[in-house]
Amino acid sequence: MLDVKNITAGYGKLQILNGMSIHVVKNTITAILGGNGCGKSTTLKAITGLLKVTSGDITFEGESLLRVKPQDIVKRGIAYVTQGKDVFPSMTVEENLLLGAYCIKDRKVIKNNIEMVLESMPRLKTRFKSPSGVLSGGEQQMLSIGRGLMSNPKLLILDEPSAALSPKIAEEVYDHIVKIHKSGVTILLVEQNVRAALRISGYTYILSEGRVVMEDTTQNIRKHPDIKSFYLGNLPGKK
Ligand SMILES: Nc1ncnc2c1ncn2[C@@H]1O[C@H](COP(=O)(O)OP(=O)(O)OP(=O)(O)O)[C@@H](O)[C@H]1O
Ligand SMILES: [Mg+2]
Repeated sequence: MLDVKNITAGYGKLQILNGMSIHVVKNTITAILGGNGCGKSTTLKAITGLLKVTSGDITFEGESLLRVKPQDIVKRGIAYVTQGKDVFPSMTVEENLLLGAYCIKDRKVIKNNIEMVLESMPRLKTRFKSPSGVLSGGEQQMLSIGRGLMSNPKLLILDEPSAALSPKIAEEVYDHIVKIHKSGVTILLVEQNVRAALRISGYTYILSEGRVVMEDTTQNIRKHPDIKSFYLGNLPGKK
């Protein structure tokens, strides 16, 4: 579905991605893991057209995205939920959701999408007309994901959806991501929360210094000795 082929990209003279390649298969959950500053968010910005790629190619359903504008990438079916709290606090839940539907002209479709999001996220329903600044951290994260769903994406890209959430709320957000996936949306997930990502993903890429240093089915990654010692070893409840 999505192919990132050996891309390089960066900010001014600073090259961050050094031959980055990933492949996302339709109807899967794919995870990208790696430490701070290794280029995870930069990869997502390149895919969604927010950052120019200096070499390599990115294709979605067989067509290159390199000269496609970010808003047209959304129209092709890719939604991007950025890292951190990205809701507009003074705008209501409704207004925040409507922002995600800016590329849809048909009001009926917009109304249906809002109903679909509210049905699956009842806590947003009771706060529909409230400013989103009053929502809890977990609710704001749900709202960001809901806004991503408003464009009817085929591929939903999530950058650290569990960041700054308590383990319990992070788990709720993750259960919700699984539900979205089961409804037929392909998911590309970036995480620092290795444990959560390895719980739900089918395939995993590990990044270091702007390139992939390991990739495998998540089942195999979970068993890998390096992963156990680097990422899972010091956490409570290790196996
Ligand atoms: N707009 C920017 N201008 C200049 N440098 C940037 C910019 N955005 C990111 N960088 C640099 O690019 C590198 C990779 O950043 P990126 O945001 O991709 O990391 P990340 O893997 O997402 O890390 P984290 O897990 O902390 O979010 C970092 O060294 C960062 O300082
Ligand atoms: Mg990041």
